[in-house]
Amino acid sequence: MTIRCCIFDLDGVLVDTARYHYLAWARLARGLGFEFPPACEASIRGLSRMDSLEVVLRAGGMERRFAPEERERLAAEKNAFYLESVAAMTPAEVLPGCVEFLRSLRGRGIGRVLGSSSKNAGLVLDRTGLRPLFDDVVDGTHLTRAKPDPEVFLLGASRVGAEPAQCVVFEDAAAGIEAAHRAGMRCVGVGTGAATAAAELRIASFADFTPGALAAGLDAAGGVDK
Ligand code: BG6
Ligand code: MG
Repeated sequence: MTIRCCIFDLDGVLVDTARYHYLAWARLARGLGFEFPPACEASIRGLSRMDSLEVVLRAGGMERRFAPEERERLAAEKNAFYLESVAAMTPAEVLPGCVEFLRSLRGRGIGRVLGSSSKNAGLVLDRTGLRPLFDDVVDGTHLTRAKPDPEVFLLGASRVGAEPAQCVVFEDAAAGIEAAHRAGMRCVGVGTGAATAAAELRIASFADFTPGALAAGLDAAGGVDK
């Protein structure tokens, strides 16, 4: 099976916005009177905005305190904090090797789709200059179900007419890797911590990573034609 399409998560894969999401939640928590410590960052990675809010409120023992409208207000407040960070982003924040890897895929005729749960993904793509490197973008504004549901990746594959078995997903979060597998796709874990343990192949970063290394790595992990 050849690789026809690579589908990229955004936050924590191409840019370090996972940190900005965490900092925004930590700021919201402080406003509510409790700390959301850095050790909890992994617990919200890849989760939707409202699912993340649940985790944060639970960490502060406030999971029963707010009515649905108040939760919406808290989520909006967090998003305003997050947007302050995004507004200051530049192309220099794209993680090492990502642009080169995306260009190499393009040079080989391999499709490139963004598959993010974030409703702010388009804004981040524009701030960082990444958008022209993608054939298509699926983000939180197009989705009805959050990762680990496979909707985001199945929709991404359909946009470029690729079969799931011909797609490879790049993810940093356990929920995203589960979504890729539920979509019938192989997954490259970006980052070598516990969150990526279930991925077929794991890379520390895109620095010096090539399409050839991708094919060879997946081949070694269980079968892909080069
Ligand atoms: C994911 C992030 O990409 O998007 C999560 O990993 C975030 O941390 C989710 O909660 C939703 O993002 P947003 O920008 O729509 O709140
Ligand atoms: Mg991510």
